[in-house]
Amino acid sequence: MNYRRTILITGGAGFIGSHVVRLFVNRYPDYHIINLDKLTYAGNLSNLKDIEDRPNYKFIKADICDYDAVKEVMNKYEVDGIIHLAAESHVDRSILDPFTFARTNVMGTLSLLQAARTVWEPQGWDGKLFYHISTDEVYGALELTDPEGIESPFTTKASSDHHHAYGDKFFTEETRYQPHSPYSASKAGSDHFVRAFHDTYGMPTIVTNCSNNYGPYQFPEKLIPLFINNIMHRKPLPVYGKGENVRDWLYVEDHARAIDLIFHEGKVAETYNIGGFNEWKNIDIVKVLIRTVDRLLSRGEDEDMDLITYVTDRKGHDMRYAIDSRKLQRELGWEPSLQFEEGIEKTVRWYLDHQDWLDNVTSGDYQKYYDQMYKNK
Ligand code: NAD
Ligand code: DAU
Repeated sequence: MNYRRTILITGGAGFIGSHVVRLFVNRYPDYHIINLDKLTYAGNLSNLKDIEDRPNYKFIKADICDYDAVKEVMNKYEVDGIIHLAAESHVDRSILDPFTFARTNVMGTLSLLQAARTVWEPQGWDGKLFYHISTDEVYGALELTDPEGIESPFTTKASSDHHHAYGDKFFTEETRYQPHSPYSASKAGSDHFVRAFHDTYGMPTIVTNCSNNYGPYQFPEKLIPLFINNIMHRKPLPVYGKGENVRDWLYVEDHARAIDLIFHEGKVAETYNIGGFNEWKNIDIVKVLIRTVDRLLSRGEDEDMDLITYVTDRKGHDMRYAIDSRKLQRELGWEPSLQFEEGIEKTVRWYLDHQDWLDNVTSGDYQKYYDQMYKNK
């Protein structure tokens, strides 16, 4: 088949990547979607079981740091667009092992950029796009000026009924980069390289910085799936510090829809912040999760509140993230579709219904299976 476009999605076997791959494969049967992923501990092809046999989908196991392999894929499949999600993504792991983060997030992004440049520059930049997926963490941390929370001045459909802002400042596209963790420093480094390739070589690039995502297929090392799994098994819930840190939560499919919109209609060389104006203190989220799991499992009300266990704080723990996504709403008309309460209900139900997926990723069995499968490739 002659495809209208060929898009290379990196990190498509991970949490957000799998939602992006699914959306593009389903929505654009006339696009060839190439999912390039190294299948680290966070990459799991069972996240894509429902679309793996589609004719417009192809999986390639490769490391973005392998410049020759990436270049070969770009040439062979005549890639004209890249959506780059592959990364080491967990802050706690970056504190233990910063080198791996610099390697994948900085050097890997550079290798991908250089491969794209080598292939695209002689063809001319027309019709090409390198779209880099980044995080709000590059902006550093906001202060918690009102620990009780005030009514948020902005809303979207994702804004929860509780509708709080814990300060009067928000991250805009103009906010100065001030990363604190090795993870956010490595993402900041990759963002700078992407912009440098636009400014130096004229590569058409876009960068987006999104807030915390939640939803199905998130690796249970991150707050929401880890805690849902622990509540199900009545294991302690390790809340860092006092649980007062604030995060701004967005349902993963709403992020994937934003990526689709920006890939097609975003302006080259621009940055867009993505978020739902949906700030929550960690401890309040934990209570919502306990109540939701207990209700869905027909346990007594607040029966599992005593699982909350305050533990030593994360080193350099950023206090508050809050994204101002008004540029994206104003210029491209993006709106999240799900209110937080609906999104959490859907997410908890999904993990309760997919205990096999959770068991598989927590035991690491899926990795042994794929290691065996790809041993000789
Ligand atoms: P994830 O950890 O679930 O998935 C990362 C994927 O990248 C995995 O499939 C992994 O196998 C793959 N990968 C890792 N190193 C690789 C390498 N060297 N070569 C090829 N593939 C490799 O991550 P996620 O939460 O889905 O995040 C995806 C992207 O979105 C990341 O760039 C992250 O920084 C960004 N982001 C995440 C969030 C969030 O809340 N999760 C928010 C904003 C931005
Ligand atoms: O803001 C976007 C970022 O969100 C992404 O760029 C990252 O890839 C993603 O991992 C996420 O980073 P966070 O550090 O905010 O997410 P995490 O789920 O690890 O933690 C959310 C909050 O919960 C944070 O304040 C730390 C706290 N926490 C986390 C864990 C895992 C706990 O209190 N206990 C825990 O066990």
